[in-house]
Formats: sequence, structure tokens, C-alpha cells
Amino acid sequence: MSPFLHFYIILPIILLVLLPLDATSHHHHHHNHHALKSLHFSLFQHETINKTGYLIVNGVAGPSVSQTTTPFGTLFVFQDPLTLKPNYTSKVVGTAQGTSITSGLDGLQSTSIASIALNVKMHKGSISIVGVTHNTKPASHPVVGGTNDFLFVQGYVTSSPVNLVGLTVTYKIEFHLYWPPYASSKSKPSSRTKF
Ligand SMILES: *[C@@H]1O[C@H](CO)[C@@H](O)[C@H](O)[C@H]1NC(C)=O
Ligand SMILES: *[C@@H]1O[C@H](CO)[C@@H](O)[C@H](O)[C@H]1NC(C)=O
Repeated sequence: MSPFLHFYIILPIILLVLLPLDATSHHHHHHNHHALKSLHFSLFQHETINKTGYLIVNGVAGPSVSQTTTPFGTLFVFQDPLTLKPNYTSKVVGTAQGTSITSGLDGLQSTSIASIALNVKMHKGSISIVGVTHNTKPASHPVVGGTNDFLFVQGYVTSSPVNLVGLTVTYKIEFHLYWPPYASSKSKPSSRTKF
């Protein structure tokens, strides 16, 4: 009754399902590439401990903890401003709110779930991201959806540490957003908000 048995049975099924999907999506991508709308830009996320980010639940005592590691199971919640430039005094154009739970036994990796509210490049709305974040290395997270001007958006964001020293830590967030063909037809009506 080992849980691993379950894993080995499921793995071939997952591969069978994923491989054909991957092949078709690439094929599809090439045919529609010229027509797809996309946006690429970078913002800076500033997180101040006990002000925009709080440790809610302490993890279990496990492998050794340092300044950049958190005990396994640590629950952290944040609502951080996103600015146009690396300096936190620069213009705020978004907010990232969400949670991360330390899910790497090394204390360096967390499973992160976040909603990012944006008001950039004549687009207002939010995108949702999910994935594993490394405390000290760049990490990419898939965009799993969006709202308002970002409705149906896909793509990924890459988060890289810029400054990890002091009470406020800064990350560069690179956005690579793509609207699927069926999203562009939805964004044309005149009811769309103007900025
Ligand atoms: C944040 O607040 C907690 C609980 O009050 C405290 O133990 C911790 O030292 C504070 N951290 C910093 C960096 O101020
Ligand atoms: C950020 O901007 C403020 C105000 O313009 C300035 O005083 C400060 O030196 C800047 N900080 C950095 C790290 O550039």
C-alpha cells in the first residue's frame, strides 16, 4: 500500500495525455503567431517584512535555516506594491497579493499562488500565477488566467531577486503575456474601459 505505487501507475497516463497536447499546441502556435496579441514588460516587486509581507505560520523544525531559507511548511502572506523602476519610490502600477508555502525540504523553495493587479500600457485587470519560487534564484511561473483587460491571458512571469538585503527586498518581475485568438474578439466592444 505504498503511495509510490499510485505514482507509477499514473505517470504513464499523464505522459500519454501531455505529449499529444504539447505537439498540437506548438503546431497551433505557428499558424496563429502573426495574429496573436502579446505584451512584454518588467516591473519591480517590493516586499517589506511585517509591513507588506507576514510570516503567518512557522514551519516545522527541519534542515538548518539561514537568512534566505525558511522552515518546511512556513506560510507567508503578502500584498506587495509593483513599481515601474527598481527604486520603491518610483510609480506604483500594480499589486501582487498571495501566499507562499515553503515546500522544499532545503528551505529554499516555496509553492506560490498570487493574483497580480495591473494598470499598465492601457490595460487594467489582474492575472493569476501559480508555481514554485526559489528564494535566491530566478523562477518562472505560468499565468493561469486573468480578469478584465487580461481576460483569458496566458503566458508566464519570471521573478528574479534584485536586492535581498534589508527590511525591504526587491524582485524584478518580467511579464510575457499572450492573448489567445478567442480573447481578442472579446476585447473589442466599446464597453471596454478607457485609460
Ligand atoms: C516581524 O514581527 C514578528 C512578530 O512580531 C517578530 O518576531 C519579527 O522579529 C519581526 N521581524 C522583523 C524583521 O522585524
Ligand atoms: C530612490 O529614490 C529616492 C528619491 O528619488 C532617492 O533619494 C534614493 O537615493 C533612491 N534609491 C536608490 C537605491 O536609488
